[in-house]
Formats: sequence, C-alpha cells, structure tokens
Amino acid sequence: MKHIFKQGKQGNDHTLLLLHGTGGDENDLLPIAEMIDPEASVLSVRGNVDENGMNRFFRRLGEGIFDEEDLIFRTKELHEFIDEAAKEHGFDRNNMTAIGYSNGANIAASLLYHFEKPLNDAILLHPMVPRRGIDLPEMTGFPVFIGAGANDPICSPEETDELEKTLSAAGALVEVFWANQGHQLTREEVDNAKAWYDNNTK
Ligand code: MLT
Repeated sequence: MKHIFKQGKQGNDHTLLLLHGTGGDENDLLPIAEMIDPEASVLSVRGNVDENGMNRFFRRLGEGIFDEEDLIFRTKELHEFIDEAAKEHGFDRNNMTAIGYSNGANIAASLLYHFEKPLNDAILLHPMVPRRGIDLPEMTGFPVFIGAGANDPICSPEETDELEKTLSAAGALVEVFWANQGHQLTREEVDNAKAWYDNNTK
C-alpha cells in the first residue's frame, strides 16, 4: 500500500498508524500526528480503493452503506500490510496507536472487529459501526477514544452510541468525546484526543 513512514525520535518506540478520510491521502493526518505525539514514528497509509478519483479504504454501495465483502478483504489487506511495514521499516509492531478519521476511522474500527487486539489502542475520529451481526474478538482493557459530533450528519449520535456499546461489551475501555460539531475535525477534539493519549498510551 502507498504510505509514508517517518522515524520517530530516539527513545520513543511508539508508532502512530494514520488512516485518512474519503478523498484524502497519506499527507492529511500528519499535522494531527504532530499534535498528538511529535516524537513517535508515523506510518501513514493511503487507502487502496479509488472512488471516482477519491481514495478510500474500502468500497461502499452508497453514503454510509458499506460493501461488506470488500470491507472484510481490505481490513485483512491492511492488517497484513502493517505486519510487512513493521518488518520493512523496523518499527515495533506491538506498540502502535491507530488514528483514523471518517472512512479511516471506519477501517480502524473494522480492524478491531476482525482481529484480536491488532494494535495497542485506537483514536477513532467520527467513526461509524463497521459491521453488524458478528461477535467481536476479546477486547478486555483495550483503550479506545472516539471523537464525535452531536450534529454529525454522516456518523449519527445513535451510531456512535451503538459503536461505544458494542466495543465496551467486548471489554474495551471506551471514552467518547462529544462536541457540538458536525463531521469536521476540530482543534478541541484533537486536544482531547491528545490528553487521552497522554493518559492511556504513555
Ligand atoms: C464511509 O463511507 O466510510 C463513511 O460514510 C464516512 C465517509 O464518508 O468516508
């Protein structure tokens, strides 16, 4: 997969996995990584799916209607890519935080739905429920931060609640930050994600 790898500062062996939103690319979330942990390594990946010229991490059949077969295939593809990238770039595979926004948050959530603790923790910014009707892997103690907008027209508050409940039922430690905002990322949300990261990850 197309990606950027940035080696972190010596002494910091943590890696941030960055997953952009629809129509974005691997450059988009670099400033967010800089705000959350400027000393960590960064693996920022470009989604492999092209939707009319827009990069995505998996296909969809319409707004908010996911192509489940492709989602499963792409989730496995990303999981394998992370393993390969860890070998290629020599970072610690067992010391990673996912930071995903929108479509990137959805594939990050899908990693959590399909693999047992595929990372150390996850920051999901405006995620949706990736799949329904499946049992989640065991997630006891797995930290998840969700950034949500009370007026988000794409990820509704009901969907955020459902995701929180499903992850918590599997044992994850979920913290939801709500703001009076839509689907856009806000400084306040990133500041709260950083505070959560400093408490949970370091
Ligand atoms: C998705 O398709 O993953 C969600 O609708 C979010 C987005 O618009 O990218």
